[in-house]
Amino acid sequence: VLLNPGPVNVHPSVREALAYPDVCHREPEVAELIAAVRDKATRVCGGDEEFTSLILAGSGTAALEAAFASIVPADGKILILDNGHYGARLHGILTVHGIPCEHLEFGWGAPMDLDRIDAALAADPAITHIGLVHHETSSGLLNPLRAIGQLAARYERSLAVDAISSLGSEPLDMRADHLDWCVGTANKSLEGLPGVSFVCARRSALDALADVPRRTYYLDVHSHYLSQDRDGAPLFTPAVQVLYAFDRALDLTLEETPACRASRYGALAHRIRAGLEARGFELVLPEEQRANELTLVRLPDGVSYSQLHDGLRQDGFVVYATQPEYGQVFRVANMGQLTTDDVDNFLAALDRTMATLSAPALT
Ligand SMILES: Cc1ncc(COP(=O)(O)O)c(C=O)c1O
Repeated sequence: VLLNPGPVNVHPSVREALAYPDVCHREPEVAELIAAVRDKATRVCGGDEEFTSLILAGSGTAALEAAFASIVPADGKILILDNGHYGARLHGILTVHGIPCEHLEFGWGAPMDLDRIDAALAADPAITHIGLVHHETSSGLLNPLRAIGQLAARYERSLAVDAISSLGSEPLDMRADHLDWCVGTANKSLEGLPGVSFVCARRSALDALADVPRRTYYLDVHSHYLSQDRDGAPLFTPAVQVLYAFDRALDLTLEETPACRASRYGALAHRIRAGLEARGFELVLPEEQRANELTLVRLPDGVSYSQLHDGLRQDGFVVYATQPEYGQVFRVANMGQLTTDDVDNFLAALDRTMATLSAPALT
């Protein structure tokens, strides 16, 4: 049972879709598949006909690098809002590509201060874009996308979000959140398999990229837009079988609806958190900052992450470490086809693991 923040346990029909027969990616059935996946990804983002999505081969970071390297014009500048490992990654991508960037840091695991964002936008009219991570997966902190979208609209700046670990299980809507760019991936809350990612965007913003310098060959968003949208064909060889699996996963997401999935994940997270607290574990973030998908937990004194991980792993459960900046902690995610029985069995496995460790009693 995977309690790491993606890849996740998938529905059997998603795994079965991988076994689609061998196929040439330039044949009509693959063109239809790509068109269907683009349309469903856009709908998951709440996009209507003014929006579209481009599918890329590669993990979430491929689509992130594509978006953030492609969207800022030569005379533009992007404000990066950073409160964790993935916010820092956005800044890293811009630095690698030499794109002018203002780096607003709040501290890892600290909430974003809207007044500071407001002041940064007011102070620098050269800023054309704003970028942030929706769910900062390194800590489990959910950032206030809607409020930041309102600031972006007020200052008329273009907003780009890394929604890699929130899309499908947190409220997100291209129009209501004033988003021009949204990056997602298959293998987290959308419950597909790793290997494909995507950028959902406003069509007018995509058209405007014609005037932006091309900074990457493989990941240039405008080139993928022309190829997939105008020519109806992939630019390069797509991960065809993984796309069939993603298509099935998107059907399941749209059938369940992101709102109901948010409730399902929220209830699982609540069960995990209540079980952990009842056992004396300390949850790091205050309740109002926690996302539906993940819980950051302090390790008890005298227990190392590897002891905890290895004990649970022997019992069939995979938990996850996080960056050392957060201290002695571990992460428990609840994305994917997880059931309440899985959660109860995890808590029982945790009791067995803790009993084998020489930790002092927690409560
Ligand atoms: C918010 C966020 N951004 C980016 C990534 C990177 O995704 P990938 O490992 O698929 O490249 C992750 C992965 O956990 C993530 O949670």
